Amino acid sequence: MFRRIGLIALLGCLAVGAVVVSHQIGHQADTKALLAQRIALGKQLFNNPHLSADGKVRCASCHMPEKDYTDGRQVAVGVNGRTGTRNTPSLMTLADAQETSFFWDGRRSALDQAVLDPLTNPVEMGLHDRAELLQHVQQDPAYAPAFERAFPEAKPAISSEHIAAALVDYVRSLRSPESAYDRHAAHNDKTALSPRALLGLALFQGKGRCAECHRLEGTPAMLTDHTYHRTGVGLDAITTNLPTLTEEVIKRSLQGGAVGNRVATHADEAQLGRFNITQDPADIGLFRTPSLRDVSHTAPYMHDGSVATLDDAIDREVYYRSLQAGHPLQLSVEERENLKAFLQSL
Ligand code: HEC
Ligand code: HEC
Repeated sequence: MFRRIGLIALLGCLAVGAVVVSHQIGHQADTKALLAQRIALGKQLFNNPHLSADGKVRCASCHMPEKDYTDGRQVAVGVNGRTGTRNTPSLMTLADAQETSFFWDGRRSALDQAVLDPLTNPVEMGLHDRAELLQHVQQDPAYAPAFERAFPEAKPAISSEHIAAALVDYVRSLRSPESAYDRHAAHNDKTALSPRALLGLALFQGKGRCAECHRLEGTPAMLTDHTYHRTGVGLDAITTNLPTLTEEVIKRSLQGGAVGNRVATHADEAQLGRFNITQDPADIGLFRTPSLRDVSHTAPYMHDGSVATLDDAIDREVYYRSLQAGHPLQLSVEERENLKAFLQSL
């Protein structure tokens, strides 16, 4: 008798368990399907030029898929041909580097804010405000069903939060294929790196000290330390009027207004880097360590795009970083080639 009750109870548990499991699997499938809808919607928004003031600029005008989501320009060119002050970073590194601060000066700590900023930046997409963004999206009849599919439980489905969420899911879905270095690091594939690149790796970790900031931890390697450092790039041009410049920044920041709009329209203030966010003199000229993933495809280099080639970028980094660390480093031509071969494997 007891045994039979036990058996029934056991069967009952199994049945409940099966329902829970199938419910979970169903839920996972739902989430996956929803994510796919959001990524598709994000991609549509990313490629829509009508979300800009002159109807010509879309996210993909600067983050071009064929250029690893950069634009190959020194600094970005937005609505009505206006130029900004910063080099366009690749978006393919964001997910792998597990970035938690965004833009060269880290002025945003949430990606859902970072993806909306370009839309109202006066030299990028140039819309007045989020209300104008909503109007443009609502006017296009194709969007209503796409938003309802992507956000089925929300009313209204079209909102700036949902525009941001779809863009975030799309941007996070952009990942570069496995690199030679990934194969070397993750699968211990001894043939993945050329002998030259292996020597370059030893330099990168060893006397070059590159890995102190472009860190090799993580799978795939993050290639950044998520913090800010001075480069010397661009600072020479502003040292003479530094006091006036820093006063201006402090004055303007007291008036409020978006930091991103200010740095994109004032080339010399943009060179102050992290100082624009913290107003701490110790942060003058500090920039976020960029991930070096796909770095051989993302020229020109540095926050202001002032370094044209990978060779020049390596030369500058070897020179300035070793000088800063107090161990000036001379690399032979051969060693520089090795370092370059390693960077090309990333
Ligand atoms: C006119 C060119 C241009 C357009 C258009 C543009 N961007 Fe960018 N994007 C840039 C530049 C330049 C930066 C770096 C700005 C800075 O750091 O001050 C950037 C930075 C970013 C970042 C931060 C990346 C990082 O590594 O921190 C994200 C995310 C981003 N853009 C997404 C978008 C999205 C989404 C759109 C469309 C809604 C868009 N961008 C439109 C030029 C552009
Ligand atoms: C102290 C930290 C630090 C060290 C050490 C360091 N870097 Fe960097 N690296 C940075 C920062 C910060 C930037 C961005 C500077 C800027 O934009 O002004 C950068 C930029 C770069 C860039 C340009 C990337 C781009 O997308 O624009 C390359 C290439 C590079 N570093 C390679 C190296 C190499 C090679 C070494 C070793 C010789 C090295 N770095 C050592 C912090 C560091």
